[in-house]
Amino acid sequence: MMDGILITGGAGFIGSNFILEWFAHGGAPLINVDKLTYAGNLENLTSVEGRSDYIFVQGDICDAELVAGLLQQYRPQAIIHFAAESHVDRSISGPEAFLRTNIDGTFTLLQAARTYYDALSAEEKTRFRFLHVSTDEVYGTLAPDDPAFHEETPYSPNSPYAASKASSDHLVRAWFHTYGLPTIITNCSNNYGPFQFPEKLIPLMITHALTGRPLPVYGDGLQIRDWLFAADHCGALRAVLERGRVGETYNVGGGNQRSNLEVVHTVCALLDELVPDSPYRPHTQLIRSVQDRPGHDRRYAIDARKLESELGWRANESFETGLRKTVEWYLAHAEWVEHVTTGAYQQWVTQNYSDRSVVSAGGSQ
Ligand code: NAD
Ligand code: DAU
Repeated sequence: MMDGILITGGAGFIGSNFILEWFAHGGAPLINVDKLTYAGNLENLTSVEGRSDYIFVQGDICDAELVAGLLQQYRPQAIIHFAAESHVDRSISGPEAFLRTNIDGTFTLLQAARTYYDALSAEEKTRFRFLHVSTDEVYGTLAPDDPAFHEETPYSPNSPYAASKASSDHLVRAWFHTYGLPTIITNCSNNYGPFQFPEKLIPLMITHALTGRPLPVYGDGLQIRDWLFAADHCGALRAVLERGRVGETYNVGGGNQRSNLEVVHTVCALLDELVPDSPYRPHTQLIRSVQDRPGHDRRYAIDARKLESELGWRANESFETGLRKTVEWYLAHAEWVEHVTTGAYQQWVTQNYSDRSVVSAGGSQ
């Protein structure tokens, strides 16, 4: 009898938010397989450790034997595939790991899922789902007046990360059309919230500002992203898992388009308010315009009307409420920040930022 769900990459940022939200909403048993790369952190999941309905397995999704064995042993009714290399800057300096995990890993998982699915009973087959968690970056970049990305926007990935995710989406689509595996793809915009590793814009700015380090804004800082609080992304994934149509794609986004400079200024204003005795106030004095990211996409925006009208999904947080909660979370979790910002993280900061010449100090919105 099938029961529970298997998720990949559950020790990462969105995966761990998903697990906590899943149990908070009374979800079925859950098996989390994660390789624990630099981005995986079991500290995110201490509150669910020891639950009888939660199992953690350290493992690589490229390991076909491991993945097939987990499906046979636990017989999940769904797979939710989060595991990936996810940082664009790292994909520029070292694309190999992205091709391996995001393409080969997804292929391995699809093959194992197909073998497992083919042996299910007819009733079990109607319930099984393979939910592939993907990104809006597969659609490329938008000009200022272009309409937002919708599910029919042609793929046009620009970074090695985006190209690897686009490849994985194409594999998932092909496994539905060719082998009848009941897959669904979601393409989501930029997430932020608790547990995000401070290599990404918002937690990097919070953690740097708290310690008086420069806030490196790439290029003119006028690139636009569409921000979504991670818990709202998780709500969308639950809705898609429950009610989404197989073979479909759903775009997920918060309708919160902001330039990077606006985001950084808002983070600084929140820190000025929440840390009134900081020696670095006003925190905007730490902003530095630095050399741009190669191939930097100018603008992302998501049209989430399909998800909203078909599945009744709505985001609970505005950018203002979500960002305040996020900054408060980082302030309240200094120990978590300390654990993730030592050692290898410092090497990454040196590698990514030391050769980026400072173009100018400050920056207006
Ligand atoms: P993350 O980098 O924080 O976490 C990735 C997790 O995958 C880590 O726990 C890592 O240990 C694990 N992992 C990596 N390689 C693995 C492998 N070979 N086998 C098993 N586990 C492995 O990423 P995230 O930000 O939580 O993103 C999760 C998913 O959501 C990714 O697929 C990403 O493309 C997608 N996504 C992210 C965003 C965003 O803004 N962060 C937006 C849209 C979509
Ligand atoms: O759009 C969804 C994608 O969002 C996800 O698929 C990716 O996994 C996730 O990393 C994110 O990609 P981005 O490249 O948009 O996120 P990042 O936080 O790296 O950067 C956000 C913007 O901020 C981007 O325009 C680059 C800029 N930036 C980033 C960093 C780390 C800076 O200006 N300075 C920085 O130091």
